[in-house]
Amino acid sequence: MDTINVANGPQKVPGIILGCMRMPALSREAAAEMISTAYGEGIDFFDHATCYGDGEAETRFGEAFPLTGLKRGDVVLQTKCGLHFDRGEFDWSRDDILSSVDGSLKRLKTDYLDVLLLHRPDLLFDPQEVAEAFDTLYRSGKVRHFGVSNVTPGQLELLKKYVSRPLVFNQLQFSLDQTQLIDGGLYLNNLTTERSIDRDNGILDYCRLHEITVQAWSPLQFGMFKGSFIDHPDFPELNRALDELGGKWGVSKSAVAIAWILRHPAKMQAIVGTMNPQHLREICAASGVRLSHREWYQLYLASGKFLP
Ligand SMILES: NC(=O)c1ccc[n+]([C@@H]2O[C@H](COP(=O)([O-])OP(=O)(O)OC[C@H]3O[C@@H](n4cnc5c(N)ncnc54)[C@H](OP(=O)(O)O)[C@@H]3O)[C@@H](O)[C@H]2O)c1
Repeated sequence: MDTINVANGPQKVPGIILGCMRMPALSREAAAEMISTAYGEGIDFFDHATCYGDGEAETRFGEAFPLTGLKRGDVVLQTKCGLHFDRGEFDWSRDDILSSVDGSLKRLKTDYLDVLLLHRPDLLFDPQEVAEAFDTLYRSGKVRHFGVSNVTPGQLELLKKYVSRPLVFNQLQFSLDQTQLIDGGLYLNNLTTERSIDRDNGILDYCRLHEITVQAWSPLQFGMFKGSFIDHPDFPELNRALDELGGKWGVSKSAVAIAWILRHPAKMQAIVGTMNPQHLREICAASGVRLSHREWYQLYLASGKFLP
């Protein structure tokens, strides 16, 4: 598995991460098999959030981990806080961040998190409260690295004015179908397509300029969790192109779709969410694929985009 070094963050982290959002559907034994399969493929980095299954994803992981024979230091555990769908609010207040981390540590059965991300902006966030919470968590040894998710350049600037710990990750939606992260920069100033709309104030360029590692979530999904475009009848051209390049490289269509993300020079990580060990093994073959410049464009165009 190819690895990357995160500026001011963890070193030698894998290009592909296992996202555990869908883990509540698994038994304890099946979750342990998923974790072991990932580790065997070179994925020692696991993404969680307090809201996945309302805590169930972290709980299942915490119960399953001892069955794998792995040690805590073998893996990087990342979780996210701040989303309270049950309460109908997003919350980045100091007390909520601190109590959220304590809950995650308990469910994951560990005494520290490698990475904590703020999941999605709290409309009422006060950066000074975030700074206080992060300082407390870092000093107590409960959290080693910090970052954000679904956050704009302005929100990052505001946080950075007060937060002393480096913000090293930003988790953002990106797949061959969901390309809004890059589209604005191609179709700029073009009234004939909605793809010209800048939906995030240029967050990708900002992250690259400030050496913040982007983690691409839902890398095989179309729409907002509508399903995977792999083998989906609504994406015939894309599947043809994935199949053709898969044949050339000797890998699956899913591996080509992940290789497309890894080929971007921003050196993103792809957070894959499969809970099927065979699907995961197929995806990990992406690590050995370096698409050419032209092949990358071939896939972008096959996903329904055009050159302006
Ligand atoms: N920061 C955020 O706001 C945010 C939002 C959403 C997700 N995330 C993170 O991103 C992770 C990944 O999200 P996701 O699960 O939507 O990602 P994904 O990898 O794009 O989708 C996984 C889903 O696609 C299915 N799938 C169908 N065919 C597949 C194939 N050939 N290979 C692999 N999967 C196939 C999987 O089913 P099988 O299990 O049967 O393979 C699974 O249900 C989450 O676990 C979470 O950690 C973050």
